[in-house]
Formats: sequence, structure tokens, C-alpha cells
Amino acid sequence: MAKLACFLFLLALGQTFAARSSGGNSPDVVVRDFGFDSGRTSSASRGSSISSSRGSIWDDADDDFSTPKIQAWPGGIVPYEISSDISSTNAAALKRMFQDISDKTCVRFVPRTRSDKNYALIQSGNKCSAPLGMSTGSSSSKSSLLSSSSSSSTGTPSNIILGQSCFTTTRVARRIMNLLGIPHETSRPDRDDFVEINFSNLRPGYDKQVKQVARSAWLPGVLDVPYDLQSVTQYTDDDIAANTNNWAIRAKSRRNVQLGGDTFSSSDWAKIRKAYNCPSSSFSG
Ligand SMILES: *[C@@H]1O[C@H](CO)[C@@H](O)[C@H](O)[C@H]1NC(C)=O
Repeated sequence: MAKLACFLFLLALGQTFAARSSGGNSPDVVVRDFGFDSGRTSSASRGSSISSSRGSIWDDADDDFSTPKIQAWPGGIVPYEISSDISSTNAAALKRMFQDISDKTCVRFVPRTRSDKNYALIQSGNKCSAPLGMSTGSSSSKSSLLSSSSSSSTGTPSNIILGQSCFTTTRVARRIMNLLGIPHETSRPDRDDFVEINFSNLRPGYDKQVKQVARSAWLPGVLDVPYDLQSVTQYTDDDIAANTNNWAIRAKSRRNVQLGGDTFSSSDWAKIRKAYNCPSSSFSG
């Protein structure tokens, strides 16, 4: 009897897990556990339960919305450097995510060598932020004021800041999407057809996070992928609402649909493949 109860309990547990693992309307997507450590006790660290520490987290892209054009990483090669202030657990998890991106797309993350002038520099800090696309020296007036010899030898890092609480799959994946030059779903020029935003209920400073990026700035092809309410870059109330008893963002047609994905959705992979012209036959999922 005890054995049967135990079996039924495990069965129920398994189903609960399976249900939580499948994102929204795409039951074939299983959340891949990259093994990030956000510094919280393990039982409470999954999914939206991170909202308990809202307020101390800045989840933002350093979006320069005036950018005339987002820059892709040439050849889909992203030289990277993980600063020593990132724990070895999180550095390993980042590398597992990089490998997953290489499995699903033609983008490659390679450790930076001295000859790589433009590279992603991943550091610790007190926020979650990433630049939109590859940062280059030419776009910054500051670096052009430096003597040309020193700036060309040091290169231009694309700075990703990941505070301890940013180390969840969702938050890191979002930053990596930005790094690859893909703005948040909420910044699409067609976003008002799919979501409504209550601007009176945004956390202070978050009006900037939901600004739209001009169509001409996007990498070619990315906007051909339809709007995805379950994209990992789709903001949720937990991310942007000042008062979570009220809505800040909701789907326009299906108001009760859950926004945001726990991890890269199939359309997120499609956007990366479009942005980097990956041969369409080589990848699926
Ligand atoms: C928008 O948010 C404000 C502040 O929470 C709230 O007073 C208002 O009723 C909301 N608007 C709608 C349409 O729900």
C-alpha cells in the first residue's frame, strides 16, 4: 500500500514536472538545465518564483534605441572572455549555453585571442545587461578620442554584466539574444498588434526597456519570424510591473496566455538562424 502511494506520488510529480517543462503551446520544448546558480536555495530557484526578489534586479539591455543599425558578429563567430569574477559554476553553465546555441544554429562562441578586437566580455555586476549586437570602436566617440594605436591594440569589448541574481536560464538567454543583435520581442515594430502595455504600471526606468526599435535597425530577416509570446525575450509582469497585483503587459488577443519562455523558444532559434544566415536545412527545433 505504501509502495503504491509512493508510486502514485512519483507519477504525479513526474507529470507536474513534465507540464512545467513544456513552455506554453509548444509541448516539445523541454527546459534545458544549464546549471546556473543564482545564489538562491534550489527549491525556490525555478521559473517565475524568482519574482520574490524583484526590486534588486535590473533586467535590461543597454539598448541604444537611436542605433542606426544593429551590428551582427561577422561570420557568426563570437569571441568571448568570461571574467574571473564569474563563479566557475556559472562559467561552466555559460559554456553549456554557448554549446547549445552552436548545436541549434550556425553561431559559434570561441575563446577570445589577442587578435580579436571585438569580443564579448562577460563580467559580474549589480544588474543584468547586454549591448544590442556587437559593439565596435567606431560607434563610440569616446574610443575615437583615444590615441589610435592604443585603441586598436586593446579592442572594443561588448560588455555583458551579469549580477548574481541574473544567473537563471531566462535572464542569461535574454542577454545572449541581445548580444547576438536580437532585441526583446517587446521592442518589435509590430508589437502593438500582439501585446498591450500598461505604461502607468511600469517599474521606474522601464519605459526605456519597452521602447520599439525601428524596423531599419533590425538585422535582416529577424522580423520575418512571427511575433512569439513565448520568446525568452518576451517580458512578463514579473519583469516590468511596478505593482504585480495589476497587469503591466498582456497578450492582446488571448489575455490569459502566459507570456515569456523559460528558455530559447523555437522561434528564438529561428531568429538567430535568420540573423546569421544559417543554412536552413542544417538545423531543426
Ligand atoms: C494600469 O496600471 C495602473 C497602475 O497600477 C492602474 O491604476 C490602471 O487601472 C491600469 N490600467 C488598466 C487598464 O488596467
